[in-house]
Amino acid sequence: MAAQDLSQKMADLAAADDPQATPSASKSAQEQKVTPWDVSGAAGADGKVQAIDYDKLINEFGTRHITPELLERFEKVTGHRPHPLLRRGSFFSHRELDAILTRYEQGKEFYLYTGRGPSSDTMHMGHLIPFLFTKWLQDVFDVPLVVQLTDDEKFLFRPGLTLKDVRRFAFENARDVIACGFRLDKTFIFNDLDYMGGPFYHNVCTISRAITTSQSKGTFGFNDSDSVGKLHFVSIQAAPSFSSSFPQIFGERSDVPCLIPCAIDQDPYFRQTRDVAGRLKLPRPSLIHAKFFPALQGPGTKMSASNPNSNIAMTDTAKQIKDKINKHAFSGGRDTLEEHKRLGGNPDVDVAYQYMGFFLDDDEEMERTAQQYRSGELTSGEMKKKCIAVLQAVVKGFQERKAAISDDVVRQFMDRERRIDPRVKPRGEK
Ligand code: TRP
Repeated sequence: MAAQDLSQKMADLAAADDPQATPSASKSAQEQKVTPWDVSGAAGADGKVQAIDYDKLINEFGTRHITPELLERFEKVTGHRPHPLLRRGSFFSHRELDAILTRYEQGKEFYLYTGRGPSSDTMHMGHLIPFLFTKWLQDVFDVPLVVQLTDDEKFLFRPGLTLKDVRRFAFENARDVIACGFRLDKTFIFNDLDYMGGPFYHNVCTISRAITTSQSKGTFGFNDSDSVGKLHFVSIQAAPSFSSSFPQIFGERSDVPCLIPCAIDQDPYFRQTRDVAGRLKLPRPSLIHAKFFPALQGPGTKMSASNPNSNIAMTDTAKQIKDKINKHAFSGGRDTLEEHKRLGGNPDVDVAYQYMGFFLDDDEEMERTAQQYRSGELTSGEMKKKCIAVLQAVVKGFQERKAAISDDVVRQFMDRERRIDPRVKPRGEK
């Protein structure tokens, strides 16, 4: 199916299923493509790949912008200044985030759900961003978090991987996830290949019976040569959205909703989930969507694990980070130093500046740096140097935490019998 039909289909589906949907009717040539498996910007007339148009995605998917008003409410309700990733628009879209804030205000339970497809045993910075943000959300709300490692998904979608490979990747990725700083007493990490069975699998079956083949094809663009496993997989990613999948946390309750932080490419799964929830009379999950962490080469596509020159790996040494940024980070500076001093650079397309903005809390420093760059006072090399220092510190902190996590600790996080207290404490009470 052409990307164009697919996105139109998505919009139609969203309109049919979701009360919040506001799809656009626009159909332009050379569409960008964003699915859970493929992300690329539109190709311009010159054949060059353009930046992802996120406003267009919001229209096509039928999600909502995160507005300044919503951020204000977030701060008022939680008492926390929004994280730089939220403030600077990296998390830019949502579905019913306001409903979760209302529950928090009322002291009613909810939980956080996120996940990762373990396609290899190393993770890069783009993979870690949603987890670092989720860790911050856990600190803010102090609620349970479940992390799904979809080793089964990777097995179904990547014919080259064995069951043994993907299970091992899941265990190793769990260690990376834990290294983001999650709290053991509020966090449950599971891999599908081991956790399936019992109540979780009961939900998978209930969901999969409620989705027709044509709905799965429509949402994801599958055709008759895709395996039945792929069509079915949506039920497995949907199931953790329902609290009864986790009796060790929620007992038999099925009425506790969740908030799902994820990259926007995962939205098709959860659009389908919200539709099923309506039909099964279960609470619809709320969502908060991130933009992709741009590749070093610029905002046309996301960091890719298979191209080391596009990413910063969480295993990179300080020197590797320095070399990658210096050699590969797309610069918004001018061709020559003389020109740069005279005309100034553009921080909005400068990858080093953008990366820094994901981590630096200080708005004034960010603004000052942008101004100095625009005026030509700060060179591209100096901008990169600042960025290198920030990223080196982030990666070093991560590596130190990770080194301290034994296999035993990973097994504790993944222990399916361990009970977790779901109660929401009123703000400020510890
Ligand atoms: N399909 C996702 C991936 O390939 C993994 C995933 C499962 C996920 N459940 C999730 C991601 C919930 C975000 C939120 O990475």
